[in-house]
Formats: sequence, structure tokens, C-alpha cells
Amino acid sequence: MTSTLSRSRLGTVRIYPSTSLVCRRSVSVTQGFRWCEKEGGEAKYGGQFVNVVANENIPSPPPPFAVESCRGRNLFFSTSIDEEIARADIVFISVNTPTKTQGIGAGRAANIKNCELCARTIAKVATSNKIVVEKSTVPVRTADAVRRVLACNDKGLQFQVLSNPEFLAEGTAIDDLEKPSRVLIGGEETPGGQEAIAKLVSVYANWVPREQIITTNLWSSELSKLVANAFLAQRVSSINSISALCESTGADVSEISRAIGTDPRIGSRFLQSSVGFGGSCFQKDILNLVYLCETFGLDECAEYWHQVIKMNDYQKSRFTKKMVERMFNTATGKKIAILGFAFKKDTGDTRETASAFVCRDLMQERAKLHVYDPQVKREQMMIEFDYTLGVNSKTEPDLEKLIVTESDAYAACDGAHAIAILTEWEEFKTLDYERIYKGMSKPAFVFDGRNIVDVTKLRKIGFEVYAIGKPWPKE
Ligand code: UDX
Repeated sequence: MTSTLSRSRLGTVRIYPSTSLVCRRSVSVTQGFRWCEKEGGEAKYGGQFVNVVANENIPSPPPPFAVESCRGRNLFFSTSIDEEIARADIVFISVNTPTKTQGIGAGRAANIKNCELCARTIAKVATSNKIVVEKSTVPVRTADAVRRVLACNDKGLQFQVLSNPEFLAEGTAIDDLEKPSRVLIGGEETPGGQEAIAKLVSVYANWVPREQIITTNLWSSELSKLVANAFLAQRVSSINSISALCESTGADVSEISRAIGTDPRIGSRFLQSSVGFGGSCFQKDILNLVYLCETFGLDECAEYWHQVIKMNDYQKSRFTKKMVERMFNTATGKKIAILGFAFKKDTGDTRETASAFVCRDLMQERAKLHVYDPQVKREQMMIEFDYTLGVNSKTEPDLEKLIVTESDAYAACDGAHAIAILTEWEEFKTLDYERIYKGMSKPAFVFDGRNIVDVTKLRKIGFEVYAIGKPWPKE
């Protein structure tokens, strides 16, 4: 375990000892850090929380009040991973499972190395029977690998493996934890498996209505997580494909979303057309699904889901092409304000963010980008350029000159030829666009990749506005 965790930015082990629950104590092995404890956790969740941190780092950004208020009371941090695993009744494996970058299935398959390492550590340090819960997003039948590794323990211990996928979204994790749409628990269809499911159900039943706790077999639970993310991403790609058609026909994609979303069979959520979805989950999980389909020889199914990603790539490059086209087919030497770098609002996460793709394409046009994001620091942007796109000062010697980071939106826009809005931060809706217009080169362009500005108002000010899936006024 130490070797796994030392490679992570921050490893934690989370323990939930409880007096009122069927299980007395559970522990979660995680990589990276995701705060999900809730204020009043002790009363609400009927247990104590203890977090065991695998190294000395203090989680960053600063922990929210919910965590601080529980710390030292029913939430503790420690570095004694082996000891805490040994004391736990339930162990949650919550390590990351990134897409493989090399070897068999590179670029598609999820790497479950970390899950396996966790299982090996649990098998080594456990001194009593335990329930081991897969919280990580994993390919179907990972539980089988975990179970087999655990079964090799030399102490004759019995382990039950459950699947309990995580559906929290960034920026709303605490609310999602407090009021989940559902909790999914999959286990073996044996008496032991059913008993383990019942134990985990009883933990969640402390705050989640029983009817919202769905129990299934192991493989349905594992697959459901991939399918949930694939369906959500598919909706975004579907509406984005329609946005292109809207721009060609004069229809308005927001009106279409409203018109179709009121049909309860379709529903209104995840129909917000954008410059493209990002985040650490959608692309990774779809690629994983595609790889699974291919593995079972289901090439048509694989191709169907792969199209969701292709449409997302198309949307990102289509946006940049529109920008260049509108700016008289050249962005060379032009100052462009980039508003937003995070993959969605209310988070500083930049993984797979559409903004990085747009910036890369504009850099290739030799535009000068002045980027402002309320939560993303320059260092993080550079990490994302390098990690996801392979853009660094070796591959792009002018990188430092082409990307200027600004501490506010007005500085980013001052003297710019164009503004590209790439993350839907609330503050971008209420900027003083009159003031911004005055300071910009003319004609002044706004390219709204999130459909958050008042197009009519901005056009009245004098801007030339391009918004995703919205009609362009007759010239
Ligand atoms: C997602 C799932 O929602 C969550 O259940 C899972 O546990 C993890 O993956 P997250 O990645 O935090 O959560 O973000 P989400 O809110 O789903 O948005 C993903 C991307 O889609 C973002 O880039 C967002 O801007 C984009 N999006 C979302 C749209 O472009 N349009 C929409 O209508 C909705």
C-alpha cells in the first residue's frame, strides 16, 4: 500500500467507527482527496469518522467547515494505514483507476493496479474477517480479481467483496452525499454476500431512505456506474450535435432544450449545450465501456459509445474554428481573453477541461491568451496542458509568452480582440460588459461557450456575439 499511496498527491485512509451500526468500524483507502464528510456527521450517520492520512500532507484546499467541525470529535487523521485496516470491519477501496497509457488496452482500458495493490495490502495486514467495498469506478468483474487476491491470504480469513459505486459530482459532493438520488450496492448472490450487503445497507440507512438503496448483483453494480456516466455524457453530446444544426438552420438550442426537456420521458437536466464536457470521469468511463464492448467482440456497441467522445472532440474544435473564422480567419498576434479554465463552475479541477483544448488550438494559431479563472492557478493550467495535451515548453517553446494568467476578468479583457467564455462561473454573467467593451479592440467579439451571457444586451452594447447553438444575426 505504501508504494501505491506514495505515488499519489495525497493518500488517505478514512475510517468510520460506529457504536450504533451493525459494523463497528470501517476504513476507506483513497488516493487524492475528496472531502465528503458532513457537518454533524456523528449524529446523522450514527458513527464516528476517523481519517488516516497516508503521508504528512494536510489536505489542500483548506477543509470545509463540515470537516473541521468533526475533526478531533468523530473524524481523525493518522498515517497508520496497516493498523487501521486491521481494526476495521469494512474497508472501502477508493483509489483512482486512470485510463491505461501503455500496454494492452492503452488509451481505453482502466488501470486497476491500485485496486489490486489495496487488496494485497488488506490480505497481508488483516487479522479478522472483513467486508471489502469497491468504491472506485472499475471495469466489470474487478471484484473477482479483488476477491481472488484476498482469498490468497495465509490466515484463513474470509472476505466479502461488495461494489458500491460513487455518484458524487464535483462542486455538489456534500449535497450529493447528504441526499443521494440512490445508493447502489452489489454483492454475491450467496448467503455470505447477502449478509454483507445487509450490513452495508444498514450503514447507509442511517441517513438514506431504504427505498433509495438499490441492491443488485456485483456485476450489475460495477457496470451501472460506467453506464450512468456514459448516459449523462451522451446527453451532452446529443444536445451539442444539435447545437451545430441550430447554427446552420436558425433554430436556438436553448429553446430546443426547453421544448424537449419538458417531456418527462426526456427530462430537463444535462441538456445544456456547451463547448464540450470535461472532468475526470466522463471520457475515462466511456473509454472503459468501449474497451469492455470490444473485449467481448461487441464492435457495434463499442463504436456507438465511442461516438459520444468523437462528438465531444468535434464540439471543442468546432468552437475554436468558429472563433478564428469570425475574427476574419486569423487569430495571429491577437489578444484573446479566456474566461474560465476549470471543467465546470465551482471547482478548480481542470482534468480534461474543454478550455485547455480551445487554448491549445488558439495557441497553434499564435493568438496571445490572457486566461482568468477564479479557482485555477497558472501552475495547474500548465500541468493540464502537459498531462492531457502534451503541450509544454519543449513542444511549444513560446508557451510562457502565449499564455498569460490574469487575476481578474477585467484585466484579461483589457485591450483584447475577443473574449471566450469557457466555464460557466456565475461572476461572468454579471461582469460590467459596457466597461469591458470600451477597453477592447474593435470589432469586439464575445464567444460564449456556455450560453451564459445576455446575447441581445451584449449586441446592443456593440459586441459581435457568437453563442453555442444560437442564431447569428444576418450580416
Ligand atoms: C460526473 C457525474 O455527474 C457524477 O455522477 C460522477 O460520480 C462523476 O462524474 P462531474 O464530473 O463532477 O460528475 O461533473 P458533471 O456535473 O457531471 O459535468 C461533467 C461535464 O459535463 C462538465 O464539463 C459540465 O460542464 C458538462 N455538462 C454537464 C454540459 O456541458 N452540459 C450539461 O448539461 C451538463
